[in-house]
Amino acid sequence: MIANDDYFQNSYANVKRNGEIRMQINLDEIDLTNSEPVVEPERQYYFMAKCREELKKQSQELGRKLTASVNTFGCQMNARDSEKIVGILKNIGYEVIESENADFVIYNTCTVRENANMKVYGHLGYLKKIKSKKKHMKIALCGCMMQEETVIEKIKKSYSFVDLVFGTHNIFKFAELLYTCMISERMVLDIWKDTNEIVEDLPSERKFSFKAGVNIMFGCNNFCSYCIVPYVRGRERSRNPEDIVKEIEELVADGVVEVMLLGQNVNSYGKNLENPMTFAQLLQKVEKVEGLKRIRFMTPHPKDLSLELIEVMKNSKKICNHLHLPIQAGSSRLLKIMNRKYTKEQYLELVENIKKSIPDISLTTDIMLGFPGETEEDFQDTLDVVRQVRYDSAYTFIYSKRTGTPAAQMENQVPEEVVKERFQRLLAEIQKISAELTKEDEGTVQEVLVEERNQHDEQLLTGRLSNNLLVHFKGEENLIGELVYVKLTECKGFYYMGEMVQME
Ligand code: SAH
Ligand code: SF4
Ligand code: F3S
Repeated sequence: MIANDDYFQNSYANVKRNGEIRMQINLDEIDLTNSEPVVEPERQYYFMAKCREELKKQSQELGRKLTASVNTFGCQMNARDSEKIVGILKNIGYEVIESENADFVIYNTCTVRENANMKVYGHLGYLKKIKSKKKHMKIALCGCMMQEETVIEKIKKSYSFVDLVFGTHNIFKFAELLYTCMISERMVLDIWKDTNEIVEDLPSERKFSFKAGVNIMFGCNNFCSYCIVPYVRGRERSRNPEDIVKEIEELVADGVVEVMLLGQNVNSYGKNLENPMTFAQLLQKVEKVEGLKRIRFMTPHPKDLSLELIEVMKNSKKICNHLHLPIQAGSSRLLKIMNRKYTKEQYLELVENIKKSIPDISLTTDIMLGFPGETEEDFQDTLDVVRQVRYDSAYTFIYSKRTGTPAAQMENQVPEEVVKERFQRLLAEIQKISAELTKEDEGTVQEVLVEERNQHDEQLLTGRLSNNLLVHFKGEENLIGELVYVKLTECKGFYYMGEMVQME
């Protein structure tokens, strides 16, 4: 039995509300004899306190603290959501661990490509065995995959041992759903089709102390014909600029020096706000946050990347020297069928404008191969764009058919061996160019954010350049989270070895 309640102390939801006042929500002060509040986020604080009470009981029965693990698939958006889940779990009193051998296992899923789904089913098969020996174990599924009806049917039928299932739109209700799950023997399932709601001021836990992702908008309205994201993440909703800036100020006060502004298409930020504003205007506001050193963002859609944004990037001291500009394909014919709303020529013109204004900008991209009907000629267009733009790096994906998207109805699927062969040619081209570009900066001194101790060599630190490349160099652990200057002594293809230098 547990002798004292040590680890249930200090259970504050660390949130700052109303501008300057840091208000700590002390879960102990919530009167659980009252009925639950109707307004958010107060309602969730109430359920956090309820969960905490319940967990305490379970913990006393087991004679130890309960553990939880959150496993994330997919993009930065999902990673950020997982931080929110971890924040709540910690406030409730769970010990959050990495291993899937936990008392409560959560999968935050992705469904952008079929293989992301397969991985989740694979993990579930493994968990079923563990759970059969560990009766009190709970399993939760959330994230994009859960927004698909076919997936929910499959889970109900073949994975009925799962305890809690929720989607992307009601993640803010996690504490409430968890409480229902804790006191219920049956599967708790709550999926919303869409939402207009954005709930602010819920706790969250950061993976890194010095850098953080910040949602600026949710959802996507673009409906690229291959993509499932708009169906599983709903319509575009922007957060208020005041809330974004407030969150960044708090992060900076808490030691963060770099933020990554997150959205499926950051260029359409602000269009649906009561007082509409552009992404470029938001960036200017974020730039003013004192103490913030670096700003990154993901992802700008090429179709509406404005000259205003290029100007703001050019004049900024904080926005990193990097632009991720997904092309998907080089062929204007395919781009039209993909519903990307730009042609090869327009994309190349945009790149030219960017390079003219910011000559040393590092450009990266996403490329998809094997979209239905892709011919050798279409593929040559993609290679041509790669050669003309000269990307510093590129994420390359093989097209995956997603049920419910227009492209899934297209009949002329490209045979797998053809796609794989194109994939190899594309990769070779990208790697060649990338190595050439990396080599060009060899010998220069660059400002670097020290991120971690090198995983392979204890003596080395790993830092990130403004252009997003990594450099390994000798240094002490206390530099983690600091900006230092490093001479890039040797180019190793996609990264550098370096030496720290003192600058005045
Ligand atoms: N909103 C971002 C992309 C988010 S998804 C944008 O528009 O750029 C990240 C990447 O996954 C996409 O850029 C695309 O290259 C890839 N992707 C999306 N759907 C896919 C599919 N059905 N098959 C293969 N790759 C896909
Ligand atoms: Fe998907 Fe296109 Fe939206 Fe990106 S912009 S999330 S690729 S629909
Ligand atoms: Fe995957 Fe959802 Fe992101 S489908 S890529 S986790 S928005």
